[in-house]
Amino acid sequence: MRALRIEDTDAGPRARLTEVALSALTAGDVVIAAHYSSLNYKDAMAVTGAGKIARQRPLNAGIDVAGVVEHSEDARFSAGDPVSVTGWLLSETRDGGLAEYVRVPGDCVTPLPDGLSLWEAMALGTAGFTAAMAIKRLRDNFQSPEHGPMLVTGAGGGVGMFAIEMLAQAGFEPVAVTRRVEALTPQLRTLGAVDVIAPDNLDTGGKPLAGERFGGAIDALGGETLAAVLAHIRQFGNVAAIGLAASPKLEATVLPFILRGVSLLGINSVECPVAWREAIWRDLAGPLKPAHLADIAHETVGLDEVADVCDAIIAGEHTGRTVVAIRR
Ligand SMILES: NC(=O)c1ccc[n+]([C@@H]2O[C@H](COP(=O)([O-])OP(=O)(O)OC[C@H]3O[C@@H](n4cnc5c(N)ncnc54)[C@H](OP(=O)(O)O)[C@@H]3O)[C@@H](O)[C@H]2O)c1
Repeated sequence: MRALRIEDTDAGPRARLTEVALSALTAGDVVIAAHYSSLNYKDAMAVTGAGKIARQRPLNAGIDVAGVVEHSEDARFSAGDPVSVTGWLLSETRDGGLAEYVRVPGDCVTPLPDGLSLWEAMALGTAGFTAAMAIKRLRDNFQSPEHGPMLVTGAGGGVGMFAIEMLAQAGFEPVAVTRRVEALTPQLRTLGAVDVIAPDNLDTGGKPLAGERFGGAIDALGGETLAAVLAHIRQFGNVAAIGLAASPKLEATVLPFILRGVSLLGINSVECPVAWREAIWRDLAGPLKPAHLADIAHETVGLDEVADVCDAIIAGEHTGRTVVAIRR
């Protein structure tokens, strides 16, 4: 079978399109014939070697997969069932979804919910799942539209665009934060952004607190941007920290937490509890399913085009989502 496999090279880990025996796949009791995968920031790090994602090598790349059960020793699944796997250490310690077949333990497999096709499940993929998980955690911690507008940083990316449209569909007023204000404003407004601003609009001049302009936030960047976001959140607002596209560091003070009751919510989509996972997929197939899903996931490429898209993601030149068709 064909697979984009991460191998050690003199230049570090790199992915290469190659043939892999089905018997060589990491262990599991469900074999899935992959139809689609998707490209996330983490995939780009794994494929280009910009980040060490695969903790054992060689290993097939791809943190997401949607397909049809080929064979199952787990009684919950039968041949022909449409299913998906997102996260669950795919491409870290388990062979991933950028391959014709994936083998995983049954606990990692989510039945495709009514209302989503296999392509749509991967148009959403980890990015859509993460945006919806962030919204779940925000609401669980009492975030409501009355708190005020919601910042979304990294707005031009997959998680960012989904977060904007899902927040808008849930009744919030998203404010998009992007380095590409001019180029992306029309699309971000179509998704529901009430305003589109550049990251330097949040600059506090190093002060730990600034004007209380926003009810909460979904942050994909980390670093200085996350520190600035925290400084602008109103009393008892929440910030969901989902990413580190700018930096894994956070240099901030505790003042937003203890003087304004602001909460910083961690989002780990990889090992999301199963009960949450199923509820989140139901939301993704229902009220949070983005109305502009096919516009956000604007391209579907083959396995041989994955490397070029990953280069663009690392260069910060990619927008929205790319689906990978495994079988053409
Ligand atoms: N916690 C989790 O479980 C989880 C799940 C999914 C993703 N993530 C993380 O969330 C982040 C976003 O993921 P994604 O798949 O949406 O990635 P993506 O599609 O590549 O989007 C990231 C966006 O961040 C901005 N950006 C990229 N590099 C930047 C830089 N050096 N400085 C400032 N802004 C930069 C860009 O937006 P603009 O050009 O619009 O500014 C870019 O479109 C990544 O860090 C990813 O690892 C975490």
